[in-house]
Amino acid sequence: MVVRPGRQDSDVEFRSLLATIERKLQIRCSQYKEDYIRRRLLSRMNATRSPNYQEYHKLVNASADERELLKNALTINVTKFLRDPEVFEVIRRDILPAILKDCSRIRIWSAGCSSGEEPYTLGILLYELNLTNKNMDAIIYATDIDDEILRRAKEGVYDKATLENLSDYQIKRHFNPLPSGKYEVKPHIRERVRFQHHDLMSGVPVGRSFDIVTCRNVTIYFNEPQKNAVTRLFAEALSPGGFYVMGMSEYLGKEVEPLFKSYKPLQKIYRKADTTQ
Ligand SMILES: C[S@@+](CC[C@H](N)C(=O)[O-])C[C@H]1O[C@@H](n2cnc3c(N)ncnc32)[C@H](O)[C@@H]1O
Repeated sequence: MVVRPGRQDSDVEFRSLLATIERKLQIRCSQYKEDYIRRRLLSRMNATRSPNYQEYHKLVNASADERELLKNALTINVTKFLRDPEVFEVIRRDILPAILKDCSRIRIWSAGCSSGEEPYTLGILLYELNLTNKNMDAIIYATDIDDEILRRAKEGVYDKATLENLSDYQIKRHFNPLPSGKYEVKPHIRERVRFQHHDLMSGVPVGRSFDIVTCRNVTIYFNEPQKNAVTRLFAEALSPGGFYVMGMSEYLGKEVEPLFKSYKPLQKIYRKADTTQ
């Protein structure tokens, strides 16, 4: 049975389900594209053989397991180490050395960090740049809305497949192989990364004066006004001239374009513009 709600399901039932999701899962559905929410719900309704929104709503109310599965479906967590290597090559070759040229302090925010591969990748690049200088003051703040995925990120244990873009040397240097066949991030990388719950839609930046903010493959699911609001948040959180790294299929909305200057458009990297003039 493939569920195709819409006509047979009233809009009232759909809205009522959204209200429950907002309340019980703490996800602000109205800020995502409606089409996206409908598609994700449909996939869970098919998986649970729920014939319509009303039946699925009952299941969401009754089952904590289903609430967790729905939360995962709505906040897709796909990621890997060194995702889009060409982007991280620009960060490694150009951006990190430029920031660390005259000072040994660096602050990075990985927003929507999922299970941790992105912030740990940044930790690896920083460590490799700085092998000889033990005094570097580097912190990577890594945030996500999903507490379960943050728990896994803190655990720092990964399948081999998610490491495939790293070299054999990097895997050996920065991970401990476990008897289970998985790989655990070593303490010298972990100690640079601070994980924390944060909802990008809360309107509050996780801090200020960041040298780099990466928010990749997160805002694709947000509606246009919300995407712009989050981009403004990043401009606020960056120090003058700080770098904003987007996902490869993401773009700056017209409204927020003036807040940034182009830096490496092919890799979707921008710099905070000086808007005081
Ligand atoms: C596809 S992953 C991106 C992971 C990583 N940035 C990358 O590009 O590989 C998207 C992440 O965004 C998170 N997310 C979705 N909505 C969010 C919100 N409102 N606030 C913070 N994180 C959110 C999800 O929980 C998910 O872990």
